[in-house]
Amino acid sequence: MAFLDKIYFRSSTEELRSLLQDKKVFVIIDRQVEKLYGSSFPFQKVFIDATEENKNLATVQSVIDQFMKMGADRDCIILGIGGGIVTDITSFVAAIYKRGVKYALIPTTLLAQVDAAIGGKTGINNAGYRNVVGLFNKPQFVYVCSLFLKTLDEKNMLSGAAEMLKLGIIGDSTLYKKAVAYFKENHLMDYDTKEDLEYLIMRAVRYKCKIVEKDYHEHGPRRVLNLGHTFAHAIEKCSPTPISHGNAVSIGTVIASRVGEDLGKTNHKVTETLIADFTAIGLPTQTDIDMRTLMDAVSKEKKQTATTFDFVIPTKIGSADIMHLDIDRLRQLVLPAGA
Ligand SMILES: NC(=O)c1ccc[n+]([C@@H]2O[C@H](COP(=O)([O-])OP(=O)(O)OC[C@H]3O[C@@H](n4cnc5c(N)ncnc54)[C@H](O)[C@@H]3O)[C@@H](O)[C@H]2O)c1
Repeated sequence: MAFLDKIYFRSSTEELRSLLQDKKVFVIIDRQVEKLYGSSFPFQKVFIDATEENKNLATVQSVIDQFMKMGADRDCIILGIGGGIVTDITSFVAAIYKRGVKYALIPTTLLAQVDAAIGGKTGINNAGYRNVVGLFNKPQFVYVCSLFLKTLDEKNMLSGAAEMLKLGIIGDSTLYKKAVAYFKENHLMDYDTKEDLEYLIMRAVRYKCKIVEKDYHEHGPRRVLNLGHTFAHAIEKCSPTPISHGNAVSIGTVIASRVGEDLGKTNHKVTETLIADFTAIGLPTQTDIDMRTLMDAVSKEKKQTATTFDFVIPTKIGSADIMHLDIDRLRQLVLPAGA
């Protein structure tokens, strides 16, 4: 399996230098990660303040300007070290800098290790819309090292847990059950349970790679990975205070399950199970934001693309369907009549 072959699951950074061979390395690194682990990466670096506001073309431009000043040429390799913000920016920059240079990723959040850094998809925000600029660009390798997770806070561990659960819900019920059991007990990376977490990460990555191999450019089956994301993006946009991506996905998944019920595709017990499990883990299942407001945000975002779109619903734990809905139909399903 081509994607999986290039993912190294390791407990330390020891092997990294040999993977980089004798290439000239230029690093894009999360400023927070630099403070914690910067000394392990003695290369020329560009620093990123990891926020959604900064995941934009202005930051891409600034990275390129800095690489030019540093003299990065076509034969270099770019190393992206950080969470999903940095891995998205890195893949994009590597695709366009000097018409494309090699790159590799070291994801340092759980979310990036199981999802954002896996699969060669990049996304840059524009004009308040998430991931509207992007492309597909395969890295030379992805180095998944649990060591970095020891400094990750509870909020970001849970955010990654939500994306891991998503992978279980859509296609691997064993992953789902084991992840629920793990995150009920553990919210921070703990050395006593490190191997259990590493197993879950590897299992989640294997499943994501399986989907990506089938449909790299996301013309069909890969879209199932968007479970929970239609409403998650709306929640992130409308939330008066910042909400983690994983928390938004968790709420979005419950909404998707209810839509599945209304379409007669999802048993009510599935929604009940999701609510009970997410709550036990500490993930939210509802939002104070009015559904009309969310639906307006969904409409606006979808109108950027088309009037009909793919909406993913869980059909049971371990299986999901991609429904082709039009925006008015979705509105009818989620809003009470006349709203
Ligand atoms: N390209 C894809 O396929 C894909 C898939 C899923 C998500 N994403 C993107 O990923 C982004 C979210 O990624 P994220 O949740 O990793 O967010 P992030 O990159 O913002 O990281 C979250 C926080 O963790 C901090 N951090 C990173 N590593 C740390 C460490 N080891 N110890 C302590 N703190 C650390 C960061 O400074 C940041 O404050 C979103 O922009 C989303 O669109 C992309």
